[in-house]
Amino acid sequence: MNFTGKVAFLTGGGGYIGSAVALRLAALGAKVAVCDLDLEKAERTVQQIRAIGGTAIVLAADVAESKSIEAAIQRTDEEFCGLDIMMHIAGGSARERMKPLIKQEDEVIERVIRINLLGAIYSSRAAARIMVKRKRGGRIINFSSIVGVNGLRGCVDYAAAKGGIIAMTKSLAKELGEYRITVNSIAPGIVMRPEEGHSEERALKTNFLKSKCLASDVAELAVFLASEGARFITGQTYIIDGGRSLALKGSD
Ligand SMILES: NC(=O)c1ccc[n+]([C@@H]2O[C@H](COP(=O)([O-])OP(=O)(O)OC[C@H]3O[C@@H](n4cnc5c(N)ncnc54)[C@H](O)[C@@H]3O)[C@@H](O)[C@H]2O)c1
Repeated sequence: MNFTGKVAFLTGGGGYIGSAVALRLAALGAKVAVCDLDLEKAERTVQQIRAIGGTAIVLAADVAESKSIEAAIQRTDEEFCGLDIMMHIAGGSARERMKPLIKQEDEVIERVIRINLLGAIYSSRAAARIMVKRKRGGRIINFSSIVGVNGLRGCVDYAAAKGGIIAMTKSLAKELGEYRITVNSIAPGIVMRPEEGHSEERALKTNFLKSKCLASDVAELAVFLASEGARFITGQTYIIDGGRSLALKGSD
């Protein structure tokens, strides 16, 4: 795969999966705008990209605020004269505050939906406006989760947001197809973080491949969907979970 001459904008580019995607795209020749709420983390990704001879800029934005994310995407277009790939990777389940819905507070519900779902809608809209204007096609990729496919107790807000991304992907693919812009989403299972101390045992219990899913595994899928080879794939959600979502309750 070759991304020479392509421009990519990533939200959550300072995060675990986002930084892996950013590095892989840059290694394959893309110019990458690394956007994150946490500027320090985004800067770390940019330094790693520059260390391998890649081209990247750092942008601070809050995906939950449409004006903020629009300005960052606009800046990318101005800096690199175009936008070919937009990935909304920022998100998360506010894991430490997960609760059954009957006990959950408005503030947590609203924030989870704003970052995960509104963030996807705002980022996709801002990117699509530029891609349509530039007339050179494009790739829009949003991050869902298997929680958005199958649901999870204690996680109704996150499940609704990630499920919303799957529905949004289908509708937006229909709207943007005529401009040669594809719209897809990625639904990971558990992606193991080195610092979180997920045990290997747990990883082996939650997939059928007896192996851990790493950010680099997800990055490979994301980069393929962003590539020329994926030009005829649109409106789809790709599950990457080692078969976890195939399990039937009460059986192996
Ligand atoms: N890690 C997993 O096991 C897993 C599983 C399924 C889905 N996902 C999804 O994959 C995506 C990436 O996950 P990750 O594990 O890399 O998470 P992460 O926490 O490592 O990275 C998320 C990044 O998003 C940034 N961010 C948070 N709020 C933001 C905001 N309002 N505006 C801009 N940036 C913001 C954070 O600063 C962080 O750098 C998320 O959408 C997550 O829901 C992850």
